[in-house]
Amino acid sequence: MAQGRRYIQQNICIFVIGLFVASFGVLWQVSSVQAVVPRDIAGVTVAISAQSSTTSNIILVWDLVPPANGGTVSYDLEKSTDGGVVFSLAANVSSSPWTDTNSGAGVSNYTNVIYRLRAKETVGATTYYSANFKTVNVFPPDLNAHDNYQRNTDLCHYCHTAHTAQAPFLLSQATATAVCMTCHEGLTNSKYDVVNGYTKVSGGNARSAGGAFAHNGVQGDVWNGAATTSAHKVDEVTKGAAPGGANVEQTLGCTTCHSGHDTGNYRMLNKSITVPTGVNTVITINLAVQAGAATAGATSGESSVYLSGTTVLCQSCHADYAAGTGSGGSGTPPSPQYGTPGTYRHAIGVSPSSKSLATTLPLEGTARNNTDKIVCLTCHYAHGTVAADSTVSTVVSGDGSTLKTQISSTLKRLDGMGVCEDCHKK
Ligand code: HEC
Ligand code: HEC
Ligand code: HEC
Ligand code: HEC
Ligand code: HEC
Ligand code: HEC
Repeated sequence: MAQGRRYIQQNICIFVIGLFVASFGVLWQVSSVQAVVPRDIAGVTVAISAQSSTTSNIILVWDLVPPANGGTVSYDLEKSTDGGVVFSLAANVSSSPWTDTNSGAGVSNYTNVIYRLRAKETVGATTYYSANFKTVNVFPPDLNAHDNYQRNTDLCHYCHTAHTAQAPFLLSQATATAVCMTCHEGLTNSKYDVVNGYTKVSGGNARSAGGAFAHNGVQGDVWNGAATTSAHKVDEVTKGAAPGGANVEQTLGCTTCHSGHDTGNYRMLNKSITVPTGVNTVITINLAVQAGAATAGATSGESSVYLSGTTVLCQSCHADYAAGTGSGGSGTPPSPQYGTPGTYRHAIGVSPSSKSLATTLPLEGTARNNTDKIVCLTCHYAHGTVAADSTVSTVVSGDGSTLKTQISSTLKRLDGMGVCEDCHKK
């Protein structure tokens, strides 16, 4: 009896939690409490056909999902053009493929589209949804070289060689970074040139969201003639210790942060990152980064829409810098200090609105206003910057044993201490 009651209570509890979750619109979680849900959509192949010289039709092809409860399976295709904040239903179809003609107008080239697909099975009056959406990033007019190639396997050859590879994972170049550079240096094979920080748009290029690793100033270009003044060193050779980290030297390459394949994270950031914490010791930190690259129009370039998880990436190496509220204020030591002994740090994860401030810098969260949170990428670029700087900063090593001063533009988004003024307006 008692057991039966507990069972009922448990179920009521699950039901109440289910209602709670559902009220936030995450309906499929409710059905995941049920015994049988249709399986997730596995791979999606993307084809792009020119609709006009400036527009494309996007064709999505996927493997059909068998019914799990003897019902009828159909597919919800949702679409976001704002970097993944708002998805709206673009189609409900009973089979693959589906072509997005954007109601006949075509999808404008150089405007990013994020689709998400899930299967649903209708049995009488009940609908069962597959547990997870399959997300597909599409960059018309180009095909994404990193994903969606179930039926387009020629692409493997750009990066892998079966018998005469030059590096582990059967890579076609001596290092993973060199593989990336075959397409991301210059604008021939991708719209992203990470060296110059260019993103191709209709009729020219725009500033890349990640900044520029090694740009030589070009008069009149999107960086106004400025050249890279600081960047993460990603040659897989130059060693450096991450300030605020464990003070262990390491090398960086593109695949330190990114995968060569879709990971479910924003920008194919790795699902986990391995960080040295001492001589011959490493820790592995899991990453779940939700964000999107929104394009306002064909000539506008991309702006990053950070939704969650970006700080964990930066924090994995610069551990002490992700300080909480109050960490930079006054107070009795050591309470307001953070990480390294004797160090006060600017708070991360707080909202400008908490101090009645407003900013033009990017924040992280779904409100898309000043109640969203300050993250590392609010003030810094991930790759490199062209900002001018003469600020001297004092860097304390992770173990607190060494103190050094440096003048560097430290990947900052704005010249000097411009990022501070953007919020505090002193
Ligand atoms: C744009 C470059 C690129 C393309 C195209 C590419 N890969 Fe990879 N692949 C990589 C890199 C880089 C790695 C090294 C591991 C990592 O960092 O993701 C890798 C790792 C792998 C791995 C081992 C790790 C894992 O994820 O299981 C397999 C298997 C693999 N690739 C298969 C393929 C196949 C099959 C194709 C074609 C359908 C393909 N790759 C296309 C870059 C690429
Ligand atoms: C064969 C050419 C090619 C190679 C090699 C290549 N890329 Fe790409 N990459 C592309 C294309 C094409 C896109 C899609 C955007 C576009 O150019 O339209 C892309 C997109 C990306 C994106 C954005 C993806 C997204 O979903 O927002 C990242 C990040 C990226 N590449 C990183 C890498 C890294 C890291 C490597 C090396 C492991 C690499 N690429 C190697 C061609 C390539
Ligand atoms: C320290 C981690 C890190 C390293 C190392 C790194 N990236 Fe990135 N990359 C990021 C992050 C984070 C973003 C997203 C930036 C944003 O939206 O603010 C990004 C964005 C990108 C993009 C999208 C275009 C852009 O500029 O935003 C491409 C392409 C890319 N990276 C390729 C590369 C390549 C190629 C390398 C090696 C030369 C590399 N990345 C090294 C973290 C890294
Ligand atoms: C895998 C480890 C790793 C990750 C992840 C990482 N960094 Fe770094 N970072 C380093 C190392 C090592 C250095 C010092 C050597 C160098 O500049 O490449 C560094 C240097 C820096 C610098 C100082 C550059 C200068 O000129 O003095 C800044 C600023 C920075 N990182 C910000 C970030 C931000 C923001 C992120 C998240 C997008 C991030 N880092 C992610 C390892 C990392
Ligand atoms: C509010 C703006 C802001 C935020 C948020 C921010 N930084 Fe910084 N960061 C700066 C400025 C400004 C500098 C330049 C040096 C200084 O003033 O101390 C800097 C310098 C750095 C440096 C170079 C070493 C040093 O201390 O001078 C690293 C590494 C760094 N930041 C990493 C991070 C990481 C990781 C995060 C997120 C946990 C982060 N920053 C968040 C503004 C910011
Ligand atoms: C995106 C907005 C933003 C930027 C950029 C920013 N701050 Fe702040 N700052 C805040 C917020 C919000 C707080 C309150 C933090 C807390 O909860 O502890 C704060 C707190 C402070 C404090 C502690 C005093 C107090 O009222 O608690 C100082 C000092 C400060 N900031 C200086 C700076 C400097 C210097 C920079 C540039 C490196 C900077 N801020 C950049 C938003 C910002």
